[in-house]
Amino acid sequence: MTDKAGSSIFWQVGKISCSMRELLIQQKALTIWLTGLSASGKSTTAYALEMELVPEYLCYVLDGDNLRHGINSNLGFSAEERTENIRRVAEIARLMNDAGLIVIVSLISPLVSDRAMAKAIIGAERFIEVYLNTPLEVCEERDPKQLYSKARQGIIAEFTGISAPYEAPPNADICINTLNFFPFEAAQQILRIVKPRVQMPFA
Ligand code: ADX
Repeated sequence: MTDKAGSSIFWQVGKISCSMRELLIQQKALTIWLTGLSASGKSTTAYALEMELVPEYLCYVLDGDNLRHGINSNLGFSAEERTENIRRVAEIARLMNDAGLIVIVSLISPLVSDRAMAKAIIGAERFIEVYLNTPLEVCEERDPKQLYSKARQGIIAEFTGISAPYEAPPNADICINTLNFFPFEAAQQILRIVKPRVQMPFA
């Protein structure tokens, strides 16, 4: 196999570091990675968290459904394509972090190994894993896009939780039981842990 980004490509180093950008915009870059089943509340929580952060911080939501309309529109839902989907989103989050931004990722990201890859790409010190721990029965009952019913009928293949696996994170930094919280409460729960991580020292 040829090495696509191999010996003939060289890393270019700019003069503006991430720490300089963080100083300029007065925040520490971080990626908050939301994982959970479809309809577990990831997107709602991600946008609620953005609303909490935005008055003080520059942040951006990378939502799986939205990205699959653009940069990931050529990817389906096989295990390999999900890995590629997650890899691309992690690389985008890494770049946005390097620019100093706080990134909120909302992706099913069903496998422990793919989330570990994302953490390795972004860097453990900039990665917070949040598990939206909503039971499958509840997600299926909600079924806002009628995807679970289509999966049960066999119209959609490889559907997470029905015909494709979801591996719950064994050691998530934050675990949210969405049955007990409204999205804005879940966002505040995340904010309590995130805020000290994004604040500049002595700010
Ligand atoms: S991931 O598994 O690769 O992380 P991602 O978060 O990007 O998935 O996309 C999930 C969204 O795609 C779901 O919210 C749902 O709307 C839609 N979707 C369509 N087909 C599937 C499928 N087979 N499995 C899961 N989600 C699907």
